[in-house]
Amino acid sequence: MNILIKNGTLVLKDKEIKADLLAENGKIAKIAEKISLPASSADCVVIDAKGKHIVAGIIDMHVHLREPGYEGKEDIASGCRAAVAGGVTQVCCMPNTNPVCDNAVVVSYIKTRAQEVDLCKVMPIGAITRGQNGEGLADIGKMKAAGAVAISDDGKSVSNSYIMRLAMEYANDFNLKCLCHCEDINLVNGGVVNEGYNSTLCGLKGSPRAAEDIMIARDISLAESLNIPVHICHVSTYSGVEIIKSAKQRGVKVTAETCPHYFILTDDIITGYDTNTKVNPPVREARDKAAIIEGLKDGTIDCIVTDHAPHSLKDKQVEYNLAAFGISGIETSFALSYTYLVKSGQMTLPQLMQKMSAAPADVLGLEGGEIAEGAVADLAVVDLSKKYVIDGNKFISKGKNTPFNGYEVYGTVEYTIVGGKIKYKA
Ligand code: DOR
Repeated sequence: MNILIKNGTLVLKDKEIKADLLAENGKIAKIAEKISLPASSADCVVIDAKGKHIVAGIIDMHVHLREPGYEGKEDIASGCRAAVAGGVTQVCCMPNTNPVCDNAVVVSYIKTRAQEVDLCKVMPIGAITRGQNGEGLADIGKMKAAGAVAISDDGKSVSNSYIMRLAMEYANDFNLKCLCHCEDINLVNGGVVNEGYNSTLCGLKGSPRAAEDIMIARDISLAESLNIPVHICHVSTYSGVEIIKSAKQRGVKVTAETCPHYFILTDDIITGYDTNTKVNPPVREARDKAAIIEGLKDGTIDCIVTDHAPHSLKDKQVEYNLAAFGISGIETSFALSYTYLVKSGQMTLPQLMQKMSAAPADVLGLEGGEIAEGAVADLAVVDLSKKYVIDGNKFISKGKNTPFNGYEVYGTVEYTIVGGKIKYKA
C-alpha cells in the first residue's frame, strides 16, 4: 500500500508546513507542496487532509498491555487497537505481567503476539529483577537479544540500592537503559493519595512527595557516579523536577517523562472518592502541576507518556483504599495534551510532538518520531478543530478507568498509519 496525503499541514521538528506527503514501501518517499498521484501506483490510497494536521506517530514508551496473565484488564490485541485509536504507532510495554517479563521467552511471546495483531509496533521492556522481586537480576542480556528495548521494575522501585547499581551497570553493557519507577515503599507506608490537605480531609492515607523524590535522587546519584544514562518514570512532584533539573545542569545523563494526569489534575479531584483518580504516583497539588508544565517547557522533562494502566471494573468499583492504582490513558493522551498544553498556549504543536514522538525515540533509540523524507511512515492525521467529550465507557481499551470523564477536549485522531499502512480510520 502506498499513501498520498494531500492538502494537510505537516508538523515537522520545529515548524508546520502546508504540503503533501507520499508514503511508499513503508517510508516517507516525498514531501512537496503539490504531489500528484504516481502513475505507477494503482494501489495508492489518497487521503484528503484539508484542514487537518499530520504528526509523527506517537511513541508511548510507558504502557501496560497486561498480557500475559491479566487479559481481563487488557491484552495485546485490545491494547494495540486502543493505541492506534489514540494516534500511537509504537508502544513500549511494561513487564509487570504474569509471568513477569523477566526472560527471553516472555519477550519473544509479546513480540510474536504483537506481530500477529499487526497494528502498532510493540517494544517489550524487560524486568530489572527476577519476578520483580527486587533481589536477583533478570536475564538482561538474553532479553535484549530477544528484543527488549529497556529494563524496568515499573509498578515498584528496586529498594536495594546495591542491586539497582548492579542492574544499571549490567544493562549498560547491553546498551539498555533503566527506566526508574521511583517510590520508597517504606515511606509510602500504605499511602493511596498525595499526602496533604485533601488526604487529611478525605481520611485517606497520604503518600509524601519525599517517597518519590528520595528514589529519584538515589537513581540519579547512581547514574552520576557510574556515568551511565538513566530515565526517570512518571514524574509527579515539583521537587522531583528540581532534582532532575539540577542533575541535568551538572551534565548527568538523565532523561524524564510525565503523564497528562500530572499536568492537568490536582488532588482536589480525590474529594469525590472516584477510584479512577487513584494512580501511582498520585496526582499532587497546584504547585506540582505548575512545575511539571514548567519542566516540560524548559526541557527538564523530555517525554510525555501515558502510563496506560487499564483495570477491570471489579478492580476499581471498590472502596478507595482497596482499588487498583492506574489510569487508562492511551486513547486520550493526544487530545488532553493538545488541549491543555498547546491550545492553552503553553507550547507549540511541534514542541508537543517532540515530547510525544521524537524524544521517546531518542531516549530508547527507536525508529520513528519524525516526519522527514526517508523516515519510516509512522504517522497520525489529526483534526485539531474537532472537539469531543471524554467518555471512558466508549474506550476501545478494556480499561474504562479514566478520571477525565466529561472533559471537553480538542484533537480527534482521523487516521493512524504504521509502516506506511493505515491501521486506524475514525
Ligand atoms: O498507577 C499505576 N498503575 N502505577 C504504576 O506504576 C503501575 C500501574 C499498573 O500496573 O497498574
